[in-house]
Amino acid sequence: MVTTITLNPLLDKTLYIDSLQRGSIHRASKSEIAAGGKGNNVACQLTWFGISTTATGFIGGETGAILARILSEEKIAHDFVQTKSPTREGITYREADGTATSFFDPPPEISPDEANRLVERCRQFIARSPQPKADELIARWIVCAGSSPSPSSDDVFSRIIVSANHLGVCSVLDSYGRAFLSALETVPTLVKVNRKEFEEAFGVTLNDDLDFQKGLQMLLDRGIQYTVITNGAHAAYAAIKEHFWKILPPEIHAVNPVGSGDAMTAGILYGFLQGWKFERCLAWGAAAGAANAQEWAVAKASMEEVQRLSERVLVKRLKKM
Ligand SMILES: Nc1ncnc2c1ncn2[C@@H]1O[C@H](COP(=O)(O)OP(=O)(O)OP(=O)(O)O)[C@@H](O)[C@H]1O
Ligand SMILES: [Mg+2]
Repeated sequence: MVTTITLNPLLDKTLYIDSLQRGSIHRASKSEIAAGGKGNNVACQLTWFGISTTATGFIGGETGAILARILSEEKIAHDFVQTKSPTREGITYREADGTATSFFDPPPEISPDEANRLVERCRQFIARSPQPKADELIARWIVCAGSSPSPSSDDVFSRIIVSANHLGVCSVLDSYGRAFLSALETVPTLVKVNRKEFEEAFGVTLNDDLDFQKGLQMLLDRGIQYTVITNGAHAAYAAIKEHFWKILPPEIHAVNPVGSGDAMTAGILYGFLQGWKFERCLAWGAAAGAANAQEWAVAKASMEEVQRLSERVLVKRLKKM
């Protein structure tokens, strides 16, 4: 059972055009609409893996209602807190040669009361999630993913993680900015960020294996159990206490890497829920990220493709620093 929390979802429209020309009218040959936002992506990919998932977070206005309808159509259970401000919309122009140009609305304003309601809703989810059997200690997860849209929502992830820790529910943190820094203090179970997010949060530069190991050690030193730093098509790195891995993704033809980090989170969680060792979860996660990048659709990688690509992921143990 997994609950994903998206503070800043996106109603994500794509228009297919020939080529983008500033100052001209473009008539699209096709348009698509998707329920975006990092936690929603994780929920979508987990659903494709057959894992029972509920998506929560903030939605508002007509855009929020459409987003919720899309999730329902995709058989993704959801239970969002309604906000006065509407959910933001994004528009991507996809040119015939594959170039994509995106525009996003400004983030919505969240009131302190709306933030409190989401924290309370999540506490109910956490309290309701079934007690794991003795041999499945990590069967209940919450996923805190993406940015915070407004100052009142900056501490929502940290407050939820405190409650999860209290009740023995595991948490994933994949965020950036103020929400990331405050949630990091509350010691989530797994932190997964990309290289840029890590470098910005800690004011460091990661270039070689040793830099990444030192970065992971900074997270381990804060008491975080599972740590992952990704870097797109380049090697990702992961660590648990005393063990470091370098993960070499398979070579693929990338079409759209947006959401690869979210697909990877879903892949790692899928592995945990199967009772796999972390090393094997990482291979499945990297394969899910690569499978996502191969397609235009976000976080809809098939089990068969992830299985196939997982056989081409190399997870190498690194020597202790
Ligand atoms: N072009 C690619 N080729 C192979 N694997 C890829 C590619 N892009 C991503 N991946 C896989 O997906 C993982 C996560 O990708 P990435 O580092 O881009 O995440 P991210 O920046 O968090 O993405 P997002 O936040 O949009 O979900 C990588 O570690 C890698 O295993
Ligand atoms: Mg990411």
